[in-house]
Amino acid sequence: MTQIAGAQVLTCPVNLDDVDLFSPGAQEYWFDAYKILHEKAPIHRIPGEGAAPGADAFILSKYDDIAMVVRDPDLFPFYNPGEETQAEEIFNQQGFGAVNSTTQTMRPDIEQHKQHRIQITDPWVGSTGAPRHTAMITQAATGLIDGWIEKGQVEFVKGFAAPLPQIVIETILGFPLDDIPQLRAWEEEQVRRFVYGSTHKNLLSPEEEVDNAKSLVQFQQYIKQRLDEKRACPVDDMVTFLSQVTYQGRQLDDAEIVGVAYGMHIGGNETTQYALTAEAYVLAQRPDIFQELKADRSKVRFFVEEALRLYAPTQGLSTRRVARDTEIRGLPIPKGSLLHLRYGAGNRDPEEYAEPTEFRLDRPHAGRHLTFSQGPRACPGSGLSRLEQNIAVNLLLDRLDEVHFTPGKNDFTHQPGIMLGMWNLFLDFTPA
Ligand code: HEM
Repeated sequence: MTQIAGAQVLTCPVNLDDVDLFSPGAQEYWFDAYKILHEKAPIHRIPGEGAAPGADAFILSKYDDIAMVVRDPDLFPFYNPGEETQAEEIFNQQGFGAVNSTTQTMRPDIEQHKQHRIQITDPWVGSTGAPRHTAMITQAATGLIDGWIEKGQVEFVKGFAAPLPQIVIETILGFPLDDIPQLRAWEEEQVRRFVYGSTHKNLLSPEEEVDNAKSLVQFQQYIKQRLDEKRACPVDDMVTFLSQVTYQGRQLDDAEIVGVAYGMHIGGNETTQYALTAEAYVLAQRPDIFQELKADRSKVRFFVEEALRLYAPTQGLSTRRVARDTEIRGLPIPKGSLLHLRYGAGNRDPEEYAEPTEFRLDRPHAGRHLTFSQGPRACPGSGLSRLEQNIAVNLLLDRLDEVHFTPGKNDFTHQPGIMLGMWNLFLDFTPA
């Protein structure tokens, strides 16, 4: 993503009236805002911002409320901000359908959703399938570290956190690594609404919608070209697999294959980039933790989970629609409302976590955070992402003796939107 100068305008919230999670600069004060929401407004109304005319939106910040909502997709179905826009028309006319169009054909209900995960994504990016990529991930991460280890300095986002997940997901899909500059540009278009969209609905202007859709239609056509090549000349990669797999007693059609690959590409890139960046940030900030991990590698997986909890890349990634009148915490929530789920706030809920802002390697149930969501629609790529992070942290511990923030270079600011992503991270280190 390109950093836009001067975007930070909000100041730290003190009262509930100051809480604004979405205006420019808000991302620097989210953690302060969450404390206020937990105490004063665990279900925070945004008047008039619902899905239906006159309906409201609500920000949910409590762990239990968010976990309850994501586990009940009938009452709280996904809300897709793209479904009310011009983009859908462009995808339908020029590409392979809107982003979620294959949901109806491939996983219309929870049982099919489960089958989709087991048969289509788990063998490649789930916790059962991801380990087959261990050697590839290790090689990619080692190559990146080799590129800067002698220098004693690195800008970690460009030098490691961004390229690693990108190389990994392009390799899994079977896209040529020479295409990475173009694929990166498309990937940034894929997440554009979540970074530069306005309000909790991640809205782009009508002009931006059109530009975004035109660019992403080209990406869909690119996937289709790769698919044709793999049909002619099958290899061991995920797109070839999708072209051959029998699912629900039939082969997948082009739109379905493009849709699955498209989802892997958006999910598999920047989220893991942000997680890796946050982990390097903690290693530099906490020499005690760095040394503890170096001495006992069995703690690395707890380190990864605690970093995912405290610095969830998906702070606010997700909105649900309310299908029927209901109530949460005794508050009536009418049909047509929208629920903005703050996974990042749930992860810092003091009712769920003792001393929630403390980084602890001995948290009970370390992996139970909300960062990958929970329930039937939880992230299908969490197995791959966790593997990448564990391999990366272990390699950094192998290759570095100590690591610090480069003096005078870091402002530790984040991109806007609803995900937590540091723009850059300058590190000085002593090679091992
Ligand atoms: C740290 C890394 C990651 C985080 C924090 C993350 C988080 C999430 C979350 C929270 C959701 C559910 C969104 C919602 O509730 O609306 C999700 C969905 C998804 N993720 Fe991930 N993810 C990560 C990495 C990955 C990877 C590596 C892949 C693929 C290789 C992936 C693919 C997907 C896909 C395809 C969906 C949509 C699932 C659906 O439509 O039901 N994610 N992810």
